[in-house]
Amino acid sequence: MRDTGETVEMKVEVIVATVFILCHSSLQDDEIRTEPRFDVNQEILKLHERIAKLTEDLTVMGEKNGALQERLAAVNLELKNLQDPPAIAFSAALTHPVGVYNVDITLVYSKVISNVGRAYNPITGIFTAPRNGTYYIRFTSCDNTQSHGMALDLYKNTEKINGLAKYSNGYMTYFSGGLVLQLEAGDVVYTKLPANSKLYDDGNNRTTFSGFLIFLT
Ligand SMILES: *[C@@H]1O[C@H](CO)[C@@H](O)[C@H](O)[C@H]1NC(C)=O
Ligand SMILES: *[C@@H]1O[C@H](CO)[C@@H](O)[C@H](O)[C@H]1NC(C)=O
Repeated sequence: MRDTGETVEMKVEVIVATVFILCHSSLQDDEIRTEPRFDVNQEILKLHERIAKLTEDLTVMGEKNGALQERLAAVNLELKNLQDPPAIAFSAALTHPVGVYNVDITLVYSKVISNVGRAYNPITGIFTAPRNGTYYIRFTSCDNTQSHGMALDLYKNTEKINGLAKYSNGYMTYFSGGLVLQLEAGDVVYTKLPANSKLYDDGNNRTTFSGFLIFLT
């Protein structure tokens, strides 16, 4: 049978189709070969590691957040104190001579000169810090007899902070003391007359006990 134009055309078509299929399938093979192998276990392991890292990051963030909350509370407190500074200040005097006793006694300055904030108790002679803060506490003491020494001890709670003593020359003799004290709310400050000593007062407010809040801390 002679090749007609039609059969040649058909043959060319078949060859083109074969080449196309061969090329296409070889391309697909290449694609499959270049695709990295997908290892499920490996991927799960990687995810576990990422979750562990994220959990760690979250813990760190949580800690930072806690610290920030604390700082915020402190700043709020400072702000409140600035807006609302408490007024605490007092002075009180003895009304008559005290002593001599054979034991230490707490001095009761019953004549209130000022008592802003009412933190000083004129019945007990005790100042109670109403707030955490830095306070200035002071006293002035008088005596006018030579028979016994004049003396005074300042106490913060059960701790003696200072003790002053002097001999009067028989005329009005004075000593004073003053200290800055860091007090916590509830701390008490008071003075004691040591055993075998005496102090003098009359209507002149010669022997006094004073204090005031400088600032909150
Ligand atoms: C007072 O200070 C103490 C010791 O620093 C602290 O524990 C306490 O919380 C403070 N109180 C107030 C009301 O700030
Ligand atoms: C002593 O203090 C009281 C109370 O503040 C006052 O009334 C009185 O005048 C003072 N006495 C003298 C002599 O200053």
